[in-house]
Amino acid sequence: MVIAARPTQKVKIGQTKLLINNEWVESVSGKRFETINPATEEVICDVAEADKDDVDKAVAAAKTAFYGSEWREMSARKRGELLYKLADLIENHKEELARLETLDNGKPIAESLNMDLPFVIETYRYYAGWADKIQGKTIPISGSYFCYTRHEPVGVVGQIIPWNFPLLMQAWKLAPALAAGNTVVLKTAEQTPLSALRVGELIIEAGFPPGVVNILSGYGPTAGAAIANHPDIDKVAFTGSTEVGHLIMEAAAKTNLKRITLELGGKSPNIVFADADLDKAIDGCHNALFFNQGQCCNAGSRLFVEEKCYDEFVAKSVERAKQRQVGDPFASNTQQGPQVDREQFDKVMHYIESGMRQGARMLCGGHRFGDRGYFIEPTVFADVQDEMTIAQEEIFGPVMSIIKFKDIDELVERANKTIYGLAAGIWTQNISQAHAVAHKIRAGTVWINCYHAFDIAAPFGGFKQSGMGRELGEYGLQQYTEVKTVTVKL
Ligand code: NAI
Ligand code: MG
Repeated sequence: MVIAARPTQKVKIGQTKLLINNEWVESVSGKRFETINPATEEVICDVAEADKDDVDKAVAAAKTAFYGSEWREMSARKRGELLYKLADLIENHKEELARLETLDNGKPIAESLNMDLPFVIETYRYYAGWADKIQGKTIPISGSYFCYTRHEPVGVVGQIIPWNFPLLMQAWKLAPALAAGNTVVLKTAEQTPLSALRVGELIIEAGFPPGVVNILSGYGPTAGAAIANHPDIDKVAFTGSTEVGHLIMEAAAKTNLKRITLELGGKSPNIVFADADLDKAIDGCHNALFFNQGQCCNAGSRLFVEEKCYDEFVAKSVERAKQRQVGDPFASNTQQGPQVDREQFDKVMHYIESGMRQGARMLCGGHRFGDRGYFIEPTVFADVQDEMTIAQEEIFGPVMSIIKFKDIDELVERANKTIYGLAAGIWTQNISQAHAVAHKIRAGTVWINCYHAFDIAAPFGGFKQSGMGRELGEYGLQQYTEVKTVTVKL
């Protein structure tokens, strides 16, 4: 294991102001807040801090843009071209954006560069292609009428994103909204404001008209709540905690019944049957949990392993976790950087203590890694019981919880015994068993003999308290349109 170090490469910081109406402005209050490098705990820089007054300004700009002629009368194909242009600009600045992402978030540079950025670029290109293919239907209603539908933009969209994949969450939110012709006020997470602002500069360069995209840095209870409560926002798309998801829904209900899509927490079952290709399963389950410092809503965080292969699986998973390279996120061989901030670090350490206290068997890790930065050793607990806190609540960190199962019939019930329903994994060579279990699991995504197999064309989202609505693919696009029925008497 290497020791956490400072970023070895110079990272260029872009804008630090708010983007409103294609202009970079300070906040109305003049306040700014600091963003921290989680690998060193040092301040990177400060950024303008939006609050309600800034949200009002941004919403006014987005509303003017939505009802004004330039954006509204722009052809769908031209909207697509702007998105293609933005994708090209991001591609041209790929290395720079990846470094900024790693600096602000702490994720390993190899992942920023080779996973996040390519997926971001694909997202903009994929939805650029949809822009001129958003079509209604002609419907043969009774009587002498001509009836057709139009799929129109929802209007002014508020988007609130988290810190675990800052550029990717920005892309998943902006691309379908813009393809469908909405205008946007996007608030980034307070932990990771920087990369989105750099993309804001590229959005202006791509040629989007003023007010179409507004980007605010700021905190949840202030700027975030102002978005959720705004009477002129027609829809809010949110990714983050289930707790805040409830608040967003409540705000929508109390104000204007704005449309909401929510992508919230998870506690996804990842099920290994004894007939699985065990080495592949061990590797896959390791990545299912530890990828992105364990900071994934869809992490395979309840790992159910069949009794017949349990001991071997546990022993090899511990070996695998011990080999994980933790350290300087700017080192090319690093696999795990720091947790995003002090709050997340403390939360994960609290769950590790809880696992020990409740009698789970800790086989490796369990401590802070190094003495600077929010690093945590890859941690594996075996003999975790269904009712333990670490098997119930979202840890969002590098803590694997392995649970034994014997009876396949009761397994499905145990796997579904959670308030969440985001994802699941199934590892087996028995393909009919795999499908049978997949159909019974209450989750928005099921991966068989793979995990984290995301694709921009495949919908993603949650059952139960993991959220509502879907992102990605055609389903993700639908959430940004309203259907209008037009009927003509012939
Ligand atoms: P959070 O839900 O508080 O933050 C996510 C976003 O919501 C941020 O932009 C934040 O500023 C905003 N926000 C916070 N309070 C708000 C409010 N009252 N109104 C409107 N917007 C608000 O999540 P946080 O505190 O960063 O992390 C807590 C836990 O949430 C994590 O440990 C993890 O379990 C879960 N989480 C899940 C994510 C996912 O991908 N689904 C992403 C981030 C966190
Ligand atoms: Mg929070």
